[in-house]
Amino acid sequence: MCGIVGYFGKKEAQPVLMEGLRRLEYRGYDSAGIATMEGDVIRITRSVGKVSELAALIKEGDQSNVGIAHTRWATHGKPTESNAHPHRSNDGKVAVVHNGIIENYKELKEMLQRSGATFVSETDTEVIAHLIRHELSSGINLVDATRTALVQLKGTYGIIVMSSEYPDYIVAARMGSPLILGVGDNEHYIASDASAILRYTRQMVYLDDGEIAVVGRGGFDIRTLGNKMVEKEIELIDAAEAEIQKMGYPHFMMKEMMEQPDVLLNSTRGRLDVENGMAILGGLRDVADRLRDIERVIIVGCGSAYYAGLVGEYMLEEYAGIPVEVELGSEFRYRKPIISKNTVVIAISQSGETADTLAAVREAKEKGALTLGIVNAVGSTIARETDAGVYNHAGPEIGVASTKAFVSQMTVLALFTLFLGRQRSMSLVTGQRIAKEILELPDKVKEILIQQDKIGDIGLRYKDVAHAYFLGRKYCNPIAMEGALKLKEISYIHAEGYAAGEMKHGPIALIEDGFPVIVLAPKDSVYDKSMSNLEEIRARGGRVIMVTTEGCEIDRNLVDDVIFIPKTLEMLTPILAVIPLQLLAYFVTIEKGLDPDMPRNLAKSVTVE
Ligand code: F6R
Repeated sequence: MCGIVGYFGKKEAQPVLMEGLRRLEYRGYDSAGIATMEGDVIRITRSVGKVSELAALIKEGDQSNVGIAHTRWATHGKPTESNAHPHRSNDGKVAVVHNGIIENYKELKEMLQRSGATFVSETDTEVIAHLIRHELSSGINLVDATRTALVQLKGTYGIIVMSSEYPDYIVAARMGSPLILGVGDNEHYIASDASAILRYTRQMVYLDDGEIAVVGRGGFDIRTLGNKMVEKEIELIDAAEAEIQKMGYPHFMMKEMMEQPDVLLNSTRGRLDVENGMAILGGLRDVADRLRDIERVIIVGCGSAYYAGLVGEYMLEEYAGIPVEVELGSEFRYRKPIISKNTVVIAISQSGETADTLAAVREAKEKGALTLGIVNAVGSTIARETDAGVYNHAGPEIGVASTKAFVSQMTVLALFTLFLGRQRSMSLVTGQRIAKEILELPDKVKEILIQQDKIGDIGLRYKDVAHAYFLGRKYCNPIAMEGALKLKEISYIHAEGYAAGEMKHGPIALIEDGFPVIVLAPKDSVYDKSMSNLEEIRARGGRVIMVTTEGCEIDRNLVDDVIFIPKTLEMLTPILAVIPLQLLAYFVTIEKGLDPDMPRNLAKSVTVE
C-alpha cells in the first residue's frame, strides 16, 4: 500500500525521488520520507502528512546521485515522523524503505535488542535496517547481508536498501509486494509502481517474489534469495505520460469519471464481432478449449471489484447458463473452497496487486483450477500469475475511489458472458443484440455525464446528511452496494447498500422523516417490485433520489429527485446506473470540502492482507 522509489544514476537524485513520490502518493499519504547518499553520508528527511509537506522541508542543493524514498500508509504505528520511512540502523549507515508487512518483527526485534540495537519507531520495517546492520557486522557485503536478513523475514516486502559503506550500489528485493526496475541510460530506477518512473524510462524489469536486484554503476543484476543469478527480460511499457496527469480537471476522480466513454471504447475495441454475435478475446485464445468444458465459475475480488463480480454473476448465469459464485478475496482461502479442475476462477483487480485477490489466485491454482484475470494494470502480479485473462485497458486509475476501472470490469464481464455464452447455448440473435448494445454504451454514458450540474445540485442538498441507504434489485443490487461504498469512502457519510427486497427484513426500521434513500429503479423486469419498495420508503417519510430509465413516468410526489439514464439491455444497465452514483458521491464530497482523490485511511492499492 505504501509507495517506494529509488534512484542510482547521474542525475540529482532528490528531484527524481520527489517526483516519484508525488506520483505514488495515491498509494498512501499519511507521511513520507527521503534518503540520499553522497560519499559516505546518508541524509534523511521525513515528515508527517502529504508529499508537499516533505517537499517544504527538503533542502536545495543536494548533489547526490543515489537515493531512496517512501510514501506511507500506516500499518504498524501511527503516522508520525519517527514511524515514517526511511528507517536506519543505529549507526546511520544502513537505510531502508519498505512496502509490506513483516509478520515476525516482534521476535526479530527482541533478538536484535538483545544484541544491542535500539529501536526508535513502532514500525515493523525498522527491524530490517537493524537486521541488515547485524548481518553486515559479520563481515559480509551488503548484498549478502540483505539476502541473509531477508530469509529470516516472514511476511511481505518490497524493499530498497542502501548503505554508506557500499556507495557503489543499492539493493532492492521483492516478496509479495510489487517492485519494478526501470532501466535508463547508465542510470536505474526502482519503484513499487511504474507510474513513479514512467516519465524517465519505459524499459522495465518486473521483479518476481524472492528476487533481489543489485543496481549500481556497472548496471544491474538479479539473483534469488539463494544467490542464484536470474536472467530477466527488459519489457517496454506502453503508457502515455498524459494518462497520469489531471489534464485540467480539479481531481483525478473527475477526470476518470469523464473518461468513461473512452474507457468503454478501449475495453471493447477489436473485441466485438457484431455480425457473429461474438466476443473476440485474444487473451483467452489459449484456454478457449478448456473453457468449453467449464462447469462452474468462481469470481474473486475485493471492494468494488467484488461488486463488479456480483454483476458478472447475474450476467453469466442468465446468458451463459454456468453456475457462478462470487467470493471476497479475503474470505476465499480461509473458507477451504471446493475446486475441481472444471472450475474457472476469475480474479478481478484494477491494480493487479491486491494481496487478498492474489492469495485467492494462488490458492485456486494450487487446487488445479484454471485461473483468469480481469486486470487493468498491465504486467501486474495477478496479470502475470493467472493462466490467461483480459486486460481492461482503462488506463491508469489514480483516484482512490474506483470509477472507470469498475465500469470497465463490468464491461469485460459482459464480453466474457458473450464469449462463454456463445460457446454454449446462446443464440446468434441474442449474441448480436448484446454486442450491438455494448457498442452503444459510450454515447449513453455521455448522456449521463452531461447531467453533472444537476447531480451537483443534488449533492449540495445532501451534503449534511449523516446516513444514506442505496437500494437496488437484481442487476442493480450490486450497484446499490457500490454506490454506498463510493459515498462512504470519500465523503465519510455512513451509507449502506441493500437488495431492495431486504428492506422489510430489518433495515426499514431506520427510515423516518428525511432519511435519505437512493433507489435504483430502471425500467427492467423488476421495476414494479422496486416501485413498491420506493412507496414503502416514502410512506415512512424517507427522502428519495430515484435513478430510473428515460421515458419513465414518475409520480413526483413519490420522489424528491430523479436522475434519468438511457435505456439499454437489462444486463448492461448497471454500467449506466453506477455513473450518477459516482457523480453524486463526488459532488457531496466536494461540497463538504474534502479531497475525493485521497480519502482518509485509504490507499489505492491494498498490497497487505
Ligand atoms: C473502492 C475501491 C476498492 C477497490 C479494492 C480492490 O472504490 O477502489 O474497494 O476496488 O481495493 O482493488 P483492486 O481492484 O485493485 O484489486
